Amino acid sequence: MILSRFARPVGARQRSRTAAVQTAAVFVLACLSPTSHAGLEEGRVKAQVCAACHGADGNSVIPGTPSLAGQPRQFIVTALFMFREGRRKNDQMTPFVEKLSNADLNDLAAYFSSQKMAPPAHKTTPERIAEGKAITRAQNCVACHTATLTGQQHIPRIASQRHEYLLSQLRQFRATTRADFDGTMTSATQALSQADIEVLADYLASLAAP
Ligand code: HEC
Ligand code: HEC
Repeated sequence: MILSRFARPVGARQRSRTAAVQTAAVFVLACLSPTSHAGLEEGRVKAQVCAACHGADGNSVIPGTPSLAGQPRQFIVTALFMFREGRRKNDQMTPFVEKLSNADLNDLAAYFSSQKMAPPAHKTTPERIAEGKAITRAQNCVACHTATLTGQQHIPRIASQRHEYLLSQLRQFRATTRADFDGTMTSATQALSQADIEVLADYLASLAAP
C-alpha cells in the first residue's frame, strides 16, 4: 500500500518527500523484521523517562500530550524515527529521542503498544457523536484508521486520544505545518472546515476502545 505511492509522477518537492518516506519505510521495515524481537522488559525500563509526560502506562493525563498505550507498534517506531531525524519537531519531545538507538525505538514501541488504553477522559453529547461519526465515514478516516479508529500498522489510534492533542494535530495537518509521514493526512484534512475539526476532536476523544 505504501510502496504503490512511490510510483506516481511527482514534482520536485514531492520527490524529496518521497525519498524521505522511502528512507523511513525501509528503516521501519528493517526494525520490524521477524528476527528483531523487541524486548518488552527492556522497553518497560527504557520507558521510565517517558512516564512524566506520557503516563506510567502510556495513558497521558496532561492536556496536549498524546497517550501512547495501545498504539500500533509500527506507528510508534515511525513517529520516534520522525522525531529523531528532526522531521517532526517539538521542544518537549525532541530532547528525549535524539540519542535513542534503533533497538531503543523497537523496545519502547513493543512496551507502549502492549499497554491498555484507558477509558476516554473526554465526554460529549450524542449529537456531536453522530456528527463526528458521519464525518469519519464521509471523509474516509475509517478506511485508514480502521472502523474502530484504533489504527493499524503505521497508522495511529485516534480513538480516545487526548482532546487538545487531536485538535492541534488536525489544525496543523490542515495548515500543512505538521510533518506527515507519507502526505496522506495533509491531503485528508484539506476538505475539513475548522468546525469539522472541532467536531472530530470532540468525537474521537470521547470514543472508547471496542
Ligand atoms: C517532557 C515531556 C515528554 C517526555 C519526557 C517524552 N515525551 Fe513524547 N511527546 C511529548 C509531547 C508534548 C508530544 C506531542 C508533540 C507534538 O505535538 O507533536 C510527544 C509525542 C510523542 C510521540 C508521538 C505520538 C503521536 O501520537 O503522534 C511518541 C511516539 C512519543 N512522544 C514517545 C515518547 C517516548 C518513547 C518517550 C521516552 C523516551 C517520550 N515520548 C518522552 C512529550 C514528552
Ligand atoms: C490514506 C490514509 C489516511 C486517511 C484517509 C486519514 N488518515 Fe489520519 N493518519 C494517517 C497516517 C499515515 C497518519 C500518521 C501521520 C504521521 O504521523 O506522519 C495519520 C495521523 C492522524 C492523526 C494524528 C494522530 C497522532 O497520534 O499523531 C490524526 C488526529 C488523524 N490522522 C485523524 C484523521 C481523521 C480525522 C481523518 C479523516 C478526516 C483521517 N485521519 C484520515 C492516515 C490516514
